[in-house]
Amino acid sequence: MYISANEWFSRPPVAPSGPAALAVPGGSLAHFYSRLLAADTPDALKSEAGSFLDGQIAATAGLPCDLPETPQELEVWMHAGAQRTTAAYGRYLEERHAGVPRRYFSNRAHALYFLRAVAPTKLVDGAWLYGLLKHWRNPRFADLLRTYVEELGDGAADKNHVVIYRALMTRYGLDSLDKLDDGLYTQGVIQLALACTAEDYLPEVIGFNLGYEQLPLHLLITAYELNELGLDPYYFTLHVTVDNPDAGHARRAVQAVLDNLPRLDDADDFWRRVRQGYQLSNAGVGSTDVISGFDIEQQVVRIFSHKSAAGHGAHSDYCRVAGRNINDWLARKEDVPEFLAALQKAGWIKRGAPVEESRFWSLLQGARAEMFGVFSPYELQLIHDWIRGEASQDGRPFTEADGGADTARRPSFRVAARLAATRGVSAFDAGSAADTEDLLDADLQALTQQLARLDAAGQGRLLVQAMAPSQHWTPAGLQATRLFMRRMGSF
Ligand SMILES: [Fe+2]
Repeated sequence: MYISANEWFSRPPVAPSGPAALAVPGGSLAHFYSRLLAADTPDALKSEAGSFLDGQIAATAGLPCDLPETPQELEVWMHAGAQRTTAAYGRYLEERHAGVPRRYFSNRAHALYFLRAVAPTKLVDGAWLYGLLKHWRNPRFADLLRTYVEELGDGAADKNHVVIYRALMTRYGLDSLDKLDDGLYTQGVIQLALACTAEDYLPEVIGFNLGYEQLPLHLLITAYELNELGLDPYYFTLHVTVDNPDAGHARRAVQAVLDNLPRLDDADDFWRRVRQGYQLSNAGVGSTDVISGFDIEQQVVRIFSHKSAAGHGAHSDYCRVAGRNINDWLARKEDVPEFLAALQKAGWIKRGAPVEESRFWSLLQGARAEMFGVFSPYELQLIHDWIRGEASQDGRPFTEADGGADTARRPSFRVAARLAATRGVSAFDAGSAADTEDLLDADLQALTQQLARLDAAGQGRLLVQAMAPSQHWTPAGLQATRLFMRRMGSF
């Protein structure tokens, strides 16, 4: 009910290309994602990554493609797309000012669910361009490499996109990505697969970058609604500015296509493959699919089902609901929906009322909560919003006491940050470039020592290695990024 499909940016519909549709090395996208991240791109993985990409290319080939017929029309196409997006966003803002409810996030738990579900993609932000880094001497890659180092924040922790997203997850207790649907790893795996196969998939890398760096409507709305719910929108607002069509990544992505079109070889075939790469940027589960797929009831059942294994046997016998003791209720995952219904019937949970009226909530949260620490902050927010029902639209964090009627108007994230600043409380600070140089870190020390021993070519290789998707966000990776930029001069 929060999605208006006709307001979607001009991207074609998303393909439901999950593990069920395609062969994945090892059978699990999440597992392949971890292997790609952990590896130093050995040849064995390169070939698996190539096969995976071929499968995804075949799966997305039949999707509608909104690219123009020729690369020469790309600039006009880009501006037309950006105008459609800003016009649609203008209409969205008008609706909202006229009192229409949020389009994406029904409550705080819904927004946190989204931030967690897209994490596998966001945590490898920029990875698709990594394979070009060792070819930095090719002037045709200048725009693409500029984009990559900007994803890495030019080596500053507070500008590195992955550092920012990791901080966002820590801040809201979303750190554990256990039990995410495997299909949510599709985009992340594609990006990591492109990172280690750039030599074989150069046109696709350039096409993927073209698709991924255009400004979509969902980015604007997401940032607006996160802020409204009191959640930090910085990761998303940052992308609104860096992806702009004038001088940002969107513009650079178009220029990269034009700069890399072959002059001595078949430009038509290159362009055909750029289009394939562009289609890859639409594979997997898209942002709006994730948002509209949220079902709070289902999520609460899921949480309790996962806890039932650990909770079964951990309760004393005298604790009974509807004639059965808790250990008995938790013995079978299938009984969880019935257990939740029984808790409501017995008055332990009062849906649609302040959480303080639910005896069950006082077991989870509060001064003498007997189940303190059993649920993560994210899970508590889900249970909290599920109990409160309609009232949860106000975005109240589970840690806050019910303030009564005036909670309907909550301060946005930015207003709250300004108020906190006036009280001398600073917002999260990931640290500047200078801060990270002093950090105690084994890799940072190793980087310094190894650079001192190597010749210029070896130093270049080491810096490139330290700027890989798995490492660039660490102190050593950030330091390597700064050194790389200094040594290569042109950045
Ligand atoms: Fe980014």
